[in-house]
Amino acid sequence: MPCCSRGTQHPRAGQRAPAGWHTEPVGTNHFGERIAGMYDDDSSVMFAPAVVGPTVDFLADLARGGPALELGIGTGRIALPLSARGVAVQGIDLSPDMVARLRSKPGADAIAVSIGDFAATEVEGSFALVYLVFNTIGNLTTQEEQVACFCNAARHLDAGGCFVVEVGVPPIRRLPPGETVRAFTVSPTRLGFDEFDVAEQRGISHHYRVTGDRVETFSVPYRYVWPAELDLMARIAGLRLRERWGGWRREPFTGESAMHVSVWEKPES
Ligand SMILES: C[S@@+](CC[C@H](N)C(=O)[O-])C[C@H]1O[C@@H](n2cnc3c(N)ncnc32)[C@H](O)[C@@H]1O
Repeated sequence: MPCCSRGTQHPRAGQRAPAGWHTEPVGTNHFGERIAGMYDDDSSVMFAPAVVGPTVDFLADLARGGPALELGIGTGRIALPLSARGVAVQGIDLSPDMVARLRSKPGADAIAVSIGDFAATEVEGSFALVYLVFNTIGNLTTQEEQVACFCNAARHLDAGGCFVVEVGVPPIRRLPPGETVRAFTVSPTRLGFDEFDVAEQRGISHHYRVTGDRVETFSVPYRYVWPAELDLMARIAGLRLRERWGGWRREPFTGESAMHVSVWEKPES
């Protein structure tokens, strides 16, 4: 029986409550005006045709002409080209500022967006495809919220429809014993560090951007999650694993894969 309840998780007695994690209310928006204004530039690698093209090909194949719902649609990096491909796309996002950026782009008129938390927000209609890309499942910082997200995705799917998640494999193997911080970007103008709490299965990505004599900072908490735990969440939501790949070009998923693209389907009956 799929379980779809959702709520706030509080630290248990004796647990540490690091700033920016347990203390934040569910559905905190980390993509306000300042971050939305930098997002497309800062993520320019992810906007490259070599990244967007295979993603859109993969999603359009799975939609099979049916409508699609993007959870965390953001500024439309994937939704706009998918819509241009002829797929009817809707979206949900917590950030009015990210959605305002999407709205300023050509083709946005074809895409309806609801402002809300994608773990709970319901939209009209049912979909052949629901998708959640670019590690955004991690923005839900508790297991309970991530399960609720799977349940919400399942609720919006047609029988036979698919839920697709793109997320990194937790890089914990690269963390030397006793260390809690790992650099993911180091360049003269960008620094990025992941800070891990392995007991709580949480991280914070700290971003530093140098512009002239100014340094801008941006830190986002996340919950990292392994593929097997996602499969269990899918089962709780009444979905079953159909495919898992190491990338959008259907590269094999192996022990060395840094990310995965997983597809769960809603059974016909
Ligand atoms: C990393 S961005 C990805 C945006 C877009 N999917 C892309 O691939 O470029 C994450 C997006 O998810 C949204 N988001 C994060 N947590 C959310 C939540 N709980 N409910 C709805 N949107 C959320 C953010 O506002 C942001 O627009």
